[in-house]
Amino acid sequence: MKKGKIMERENILVLDFGGQYNQLIARRVRECNVYCEVHSSDTDIAKIREMAPKGIILTGGPNSVYEESSPHADPDLFTLGIPILGICYGAQILAYQLGGRVAGADKSEYGKTEVTVDTTKSLFKDWKEDSVVWMSHTDLIKDVPEGFTVTGHTSDCPVAAMQDDERGFYAVQFHPEVVHTDEGMKLFRNFVYDICGCSGDWQMSSFIDTSVTQIKEKVGNGKVLLGLSGGVDSSVVAALISKAIGDQLTCVFVDHGLLRKNEADEVSEVFGDSGLFKLNFVHVDAAAHFYEKLSGVTEPEDKRKIIGAEFIDVFEKEAEKIGTVDFLAQGTIYPDVIESGLGKSATIKSHHNVGGLPDHVSFREIIEPLRMLFKDEVREVGLKLGIPEKLVYRQPFPGPGLGVRVIGEVTPDKIRMVQEADAIYREEIEKATENDPDWKPSQYYAALTNMRSVGVMGDGRTYDYAIALRAVITTDFMTATAAPIPWDVLTRATDRIVNEVKGVNRVLYDCTSKPPATIELE
Ligand code: XMP
Repeated sequence: MKKGKIMERENILVLDFGGQYNQLIARRVRECNVYCEVHSSDTDIAKIREMAPKGIILTGGPNSVYEESSPHADPDLFTLGIPILGICYGAQILAYQLGGRVAGADKSEYGKTEVTVDTTKSLFKDWKEDSVVWMSHTDLIKDVPEGFTVTGHTSDCPVAAMQDDERGFYAVQFHPEVVHTDEGMKLFRNFVYDICGCSGDWQMSSFIDTSVTQIKEKVGNGKVLLGLSGGVDSSVVAALISKAIGDQLTCVFVDHGLLRKNEADEVSEVFGDSGLFKLNFVHVDAAAHFYEKLSGVTEPEDKRKIIGAEFIDVFEKEAEKIGTVDFLAQGTIYPDVIESGLGKSATIKSHHNVGGLPDHVSFREIIEPLRMLFKDEVREVGLKLGIPEKLVYRQPFPGPGLGVRVIGEVTPDKIRMVQEADAIYREEIEKATENDPDWKPSQYYAALTNMRSVGVMGDGRTYDYAIALRAVITTDFMTATAAPIPWDVLTRATDRIVNEVKGVNRVLYDCTSKPPATIELE
């Protein structure tokens, strides 16, 4: 996707000072149908001018503005004549760099806090005078700079909000981007529409049209190759590229035999010959090959490495059969781009994706049409392109698949047990949450422990495997808590699993948070 073209579009720029919610800020702006990108706080002013944002948001961050080594804004930023909203550390940056005073608070504020705001001010239009906001700070603004007026306070924070209408500078000490701030979305809407004058024309349908045109232009008569995993991102890439160039696209779907029950058939139904999309679909059934390679291997890291390496190997062999390709397509999405170092919050998540870049496939260029989209935008594009809901709303699933959900050695029989138990568990949770979605966990699955124990079935003794059920609540998948699954749902799933899955006589529920545990068992 060409950068220049994107930036002709109305946009808001988020300058990243290292806060943990910075991606969320961009999400909220996009929820207002305004395109938004996150860039580092030290982005060159010339580049910012070129982007021509209609507004700039300075994010939170972990530092203290008065320390020399802390990141500061380029002073020229304040002369651009573009409205600026500072959030938390960003608010303190505005105060400090424009001549106010920031110091350590007598009492830090953390968590839900009652705030009183001046609802006659444009930033707080439609707010209730008193409402709950999310606070997380140890410094605070002691004196506002000249030209600013205080527009909000809490019992421990005399300047919870301030603004200078004339220059178009706005600041809030709290985090409007977090769901716990009751009126947070209103603040973003007020900022982007009323203050920055955005019209809100960022729509997924226009994204599809623009991308299709760009892909057509870029690919011409060339050939594109995509490794399709059946996950949301690669599926949406497949649908989007197929819309642009039809069967110039070849999708290779490597079925490593470690997918969930019926998953391979579901992917084939959607993308295969009788599916909705015009493309070349190559389904490689490599289950036997993977089981052979995994035979006798028990160490989790060894298993992951073998699965990863074999995956690339199988993919490359298929790619060789296709011959030269011009482009390799990938399902990179915006959080991957931000996390791998665009912003300062860059905690590079150790990528456990199966795949990566193949060494022996020659191609001219990579295309990543979803590079600027957040996950829920990717889902919206997927639905608009006609991918079934079931696939679009699929839970996260590790690249090495059930290989990391069978503790110890992987065998076809163990995969059968975990597939069946997992299908039952998911079905029970989905049934129970259909009319009561509030407690639906963020991720839930069954794994096969490597433990066998004694049981009794009918009049006979059994010595069979134990299934572990896992369900977690999380927003970022980096930390998580175990989900409080209603007891009746757990017992119903348990009864069905021990009755219906041959080889299993016990079911355990994993109550551990992450940390110290991880979400997956291996
Ligand atoms: P962990 O187990 O690290 O999982 O707490 C965090 C999230 O990442 C998913 N996960 C993976 N995703 N390839 C992936 O694409 C992998 O190898 C992998 N391992 C874990 C996991 O399902 C959870 O959502």
